[in-house]
Amino acid sequence: MKSNTIVLLDEKRVFKPSVETVERAHVKNWENEIEKGKDFEKYWEEKAEDIDWFQKWDKVLDESNKPFYKWFVNGKTNLTHNAVDRWINTEKRNKVAILYVNERGDEKKLTYYELYREVNKMANALKNLGVKKGETVSMYLPMCPELIISLLACTKIGAVHSVVYSGLSVGAFVERMNNAKVKVLITADGTYRRGKIIDLKKISDEAMLQCPTVETVVVVKHTQNEIKMSELSGKEIFYDRLVEGEPAECECEPMDAEDPLFLLYTSGSTGKPKGIVHTTGGYMVGVSTTLKNIFDIQPDDLYWCTADIGWITGHSYVIYGPLLLGTTTLVYEGAPDYPDPGAWWKIVEKYGVTKFYTAPTAIRHLMRFGDRYPNIYNISSLRILGTVGEPINPEAWIWYYKNIGKEKTPIMDTWWQTETGMHMIAPLPSADLKPGSATKPVPGVSADVVDEKGNPVPLGTGGHLVITKPWPAMFRTLYEDEEKYKNVYWNDIPGVYKAGDMARKDKDGYFWIQGRSDDVLKIAGHRIGTSEVESAFGSHPAVVEAAVIGKADPVKGEVIKAFLILKEGYQLKTKLIEELKEHIRYELGPVAVIGELEKVDSLPKTRSGKIMRRILRARDKGEDVGDTSTLEE
Ligand code: WT7
Repeated sequence: MKSNTIVLLDEKRVFKPSVETVERAHVKNWENEIEKGKDFEKYWEEKAEDIDWFQKWDKVLDESNKPFYKWFVNGKTNLTHNAVDRWINTEKRNKVAILYVNERGDEKKLTYYELYREVNKMANALKNLGVKKGETVSMYLPMCPELIISLLACTKIGAVHSVVYSGLSVGAFVERMNNAKVKVLITADGTYRRGKIIDLKKISDEAMLQCPTVETVVVVKHTQNEIKMSELSGKEIFYDRLVEGEPAECECEPMDAEDPLFLLYTSGSTGKPKGIVHTTGGYMVGVSTTLKNIFDIQPDDLYWCTADIGWITGHSYVIYGPLLLGTTTLVYEGAPDYPDPGAWWKIVEKYGVTKFYTAPTAIRHLMRFGDRYPNIYNISSLRILGTVGEPINPEAWIWYYKNIGKEKTPIMDTWWQTETGMHMIAPLPSADLKPGSATKPVPGVSADVVDEKGNPVPLGTGGHLVITKPWPAMFRTLYEDEEKYKNVYWNDIPGVYKAGDMARKDKDGYFWIQGRSDDVLKIAGHRIGTSEVESAFGSHPAVVEAAVIGKADPVKGEVIKAFLILKEGYQLKTKLIEELKEHIRYELGPVAVIGELEKVDSLPKTRSGKIMRRILRARDKGEDVGDTSTLEE
């Protein structure tokens, strides 16, 4: 296991839910629901009834070609039908679907009916651009209504979307576009960040020089930033021009339950980012059920998840989950501490947010400003809080519980992954909570902690976190790489899904996630592979070779520590350090936060040439380097 992740103390406190919380909840007894979920096919089949199907499935789960599972075999449905169209003939027609707010205080509301019309126009426009069912459309956009409209327009016509997070930069962007052979890209003139406008179009222009498959670039005028358009090339068009005059009606494409829905790239321990493939039917069932039960979505809710839509949390729990339940989702563009560290609580007060979902790194960041800011505002509308992305240390949990939840609001610590699509280990509001534990597998999901061979380890002992039964929102493969899908996730420990995390289980069956077991870093909850960072360093002219490890950081969880072999004549002085930081920013984006650079003469490697990061980590912490028998020199 990597030993640089935040250590969770042996936490013994237990927090019981309030009577009000339990009385209000859809699921009043957590343990009973877990029992019900043990018959998992039956459980998920029942939940699938909450979704509209054009044609019902023949079989809930097909396990005949493991690990290529199929759910709701031969079922026909459409996500946009379920997330938008079906609500316009109900009392939700004029309810706000999307409440967009930004750091400047601008707001924009779209009702379900308005969203329906906008999605239809964009769907027709995409068809006019020649986008067909099964083809990939990419988005490089800020948190803005047009992003959501574009995603729903794709799913309406059966196009596959592939969002590139707007905090990634040219190198990472190009890689994702070319891997998916994208024909249409939707981007914007900019995004607001801490009082400045970041010119996304400029980054996109640079990337496009290296993306030969892209035929059309659609540009959203979001910030009214002055940008250069090259409309004469016939390749670029403004979003508003594109949808102008399009009919506000468009039929949904009937999709097979197993038709691809979206691609989302994520980092692994080796090689390039992996294209995670999610499909239509099971994804909807898994995401809507977990959101409904874990955040206990009720008709009067105002739900806010602060994640960026560029990550899986944004896909599943900013857009799709909330809209599939017909709730109002608040979409915020901006930082948690701008214009001041009370920014988020001001929004909670102003709109009466009831459900709030964020990441431990944001909580730790806001914690540093003390309890002053949350106390300025009346945030008593909050009923449920959530966290996701990395282990939450008990100190941050308690701060969140006291200062934001006022000791009455339960905290849902949700463990899951880009690959799982939906929450996997998480409590329900009626659960007893232990700070720092994501509690137990959600009803209908089975997980365990095992050794290398797949045998369960004794309670309290660390081991590999595995999922032992298929689940509906599971990814189905890696884009154009079935071999890697099998090898990375299913073959190491036969018969189960290996998550890549270490965990332990306590005597009450609660899971304590300890961090990644592989060479994947978690920087402010963002996943980034050491090998990606190493090759980005390697592409700088001064660098011969680089090795990267994670270094513990009190706010971000981890940051990058790089050991660099430099070319003859280069010194690691201020000028080169700045240049290297700028280079990494250009290649990967601001997500790759550099903590420390160190010049070395050689790197510890195995005889087969693999960098032994374990030795670097131990050396960095001044610890014993342990067994070095496989070390070459
Ligand atoms: C990795 C997945 C899925 C949402 C965002 C991250 C870590 C995620 C928790 C949690 C401890 C967590 C794991 C996991 N992680 N949630 N509640 N407690 N660790 O998605 O980028 O695919 O990263 O995030 O290490 O494997 P992702």
